[in-house]
Amino acid sequence: MCGIVAYIGTKNAYPILIKGLKRLEYRGYDSAGVALKVNGNTEIYKKKGKVSELENFCADKNTFSNIGIAHTRWATHGEPNDINAHPHRSMKGHFTIIHNGIIENYERLKKDLAAKNYSFYGETDSEILANLIEYMYVEDGMRSAEVAVRMALTRVVGAYGLVVMCNNEPNKLIAARKSSPLAIGLGEGEYYLASDATPIVEYTRNVVYLNDSDVAILTPDSFTLKTVQKDEEITPDVQRIEMSVGELEKNGFDHFMLKEIFDQPRTIADSFRGRIHPETKEVFLGGLNEVMPRIAEAKRIIIIACGTSWHAALIGEYLVEEYAQVPVEVEYASEYRYRRPIIREDDVVLAISQSGETADTLAAIRLAKEKGALVLGICNVVGSSIARETHAGIYTHAGVEIGVASTKAFTAQVTVLTLLAMRLARVHKAISDERYYNVINDLMAIPDKINLVLEKHEQIKQIAEKYKDNDNALYLGRGYLFPVALEGALKLKEISYIHAEGYAAGEMKHGPIALVDSNIPVVVVAAKDRYYEKVVSNIQEVKARKGNIIAVVTEGDSLLRDMVEDIMEIPKSDEVVTPLLAVVPLQLFAYYISVSRGCDVDQPRNLAKSVTVE
Ligand code: M6R
Repeated sequence: MCGIVAYIGTKNAYPILIKGLKRLEYRGYDSAGVALKVNGNTEIYKKKGKVSELENFCADKNTFSNIGIAHTRWATHGEPNDINAHPHRSMKGHFTIIHNGIIENYERLKKDLAAKNYSFYGETDSEILANLIEYMYVEDGMRSAEVAVRMALTRVVGAYGLVVMCNNEPNKLIAARKSSPLAIGLGEGEYYLASDATPIVEYTRNVVYLNDSDVAILTPDSFTLKTVQKDEEITPDVQRIEMSVGELEKNGFDHFMLKEIFDQPRTIADSFRGRIHPETKEVFLGGLNEVMPRIAEAKRIIIIACGTSWHAALIGEYLVEEYAQVPVEVEYASEYRYRRPIIREDDVVLAISQSGETADTLAAIRLAKEKGALVLGICNVVGSSIARETHAGIYTHAGVEIGVASTKAFTAQVTVLTLLAMRLARVHKAISDERYYNVINDLMAIPDKINLVLEKHEQIKQIAEKYKDNDNALYLGRGYLFPVALEGALKLKEISYIHAEGYAAGEMKHGPIALVDSNIPVVVVAAKDRYYEKVVSNIQEVKARKGNIIAVVTEGDSLLRDMVEDIMEIPKSDEVVTPLLAVVPLQLFAYYISVSRGCDVDQPRNLAKSVTVE
């Protein structure tokens, strides 16, 4: 959470920083700020609200500078206001910093600094860090900003992506990372720093992703890499980034979320492209090749994830258990990491994450590695922390997802999980040829079928219009469509602020049915699969209590068409790949409700795309 951008070189930094902040705004948007060297002084401009507010505020200021740092915040310590916004300046003015992450021992450090007569203007942990660096600097005879940063960081417990400017060393940036991502783009006589590569890609494709404990010291023509602990130079690992600038634009859509929903036929195809042999239809997952023997011997697979990725994990559980006959457990990373779980060396732990930076998922990965399990990742962001910290993995290839509400990343995760389940099913010889080819063929047909669902977006918009003023909604599904009900409810609540709950339809009579009356819309995911009859019974139960039913049905389902208030049709497909179709109308439904309620679709309140704090 929070987005960091910085620049040092010969260009005017300000427009680069503002554009970069806008690209990173999905990470947090409570307040934004920038620090620039203007006529030899470090000027800080910051404002509560979005980056556009900062831009307006700076409109009449002198912002020309060849060096600068900028930040967009998702508040952890201290309310979102102008004062708590970054950058933060140390008390004596020697240092200005931007920080992403949490300084866990900041209360202790604050006390120590207060005892040395330091005072503070705001409530953030980051301001304490700025002062700690300054304290180290002054104590050390103001010898070296780099040494002060490294010394301060040895005293810090917590997470940081950090960029520091020092008044006495005006043509230098110092950057450091621990558990909070930081990428450095290498230009000609210039460097671009950012929380991820999206602000960098239009200037350079050569990037160094800092590792935990790395400290980078940058001047326009030098890049020195050390660690917090050691005053020794290390060689940076320069990587090429492949993403295109086009991926970062809305391409004529009103919102990134809508664009990403419409991207899905292509992104799903990208997820399986090159992984299914064109003739034999055998699944090939290059990233798992070396570890496949160990996966094949695993006694169980534990899938860890959060939010939407956790919903994808549930579908993965059903698939792997049914077709590969391997026991699977699905865990919330935030619970798993703290509940002293049993992890054995013959377990495979599979982490699923769009961003690859989710703090709880990363912590669970580290725990599993400590216990000797083989740890795999399914990630979207190439080069992300989870991608790098797992033993092996599979990228989802959904491309950059900017809308805070995950859509195309979810369907890409489900696609990859389907491939993995089919591969394991073959390895364990647990699936018949007929079943295997059905699943693979129907998976490959999904992109075209999603296009058919997307063509019905106007109809879904009209249904959304009918229900936009409701305060509550229930979502029900069974089998492979139960996680889809959970995902549909999450989409609605996060972008429209309507209270929505997803349930396994069979659970309804164990509590949620008490909510059903003529005021509550009940969204039932009722495609024609092995559970269909049971779901129809659940629909009858809701109808008997005067609930309004919106059903996602298989095309041509005249029974349900006559029984429910509204239907959203999806093409017929094998039941195990039907989640990929059934989720699409629910994404559109949530989207159109959010738009008609006037909500901020891409940046819903209180949320951030990448949850790098626990
Ligand atoms: O990046 P991750 O997949 O690890 O993120 C997990 C969740 O934070 C994420 O899926 C969240 O629930 C989304 N806002 C859902 O739309």
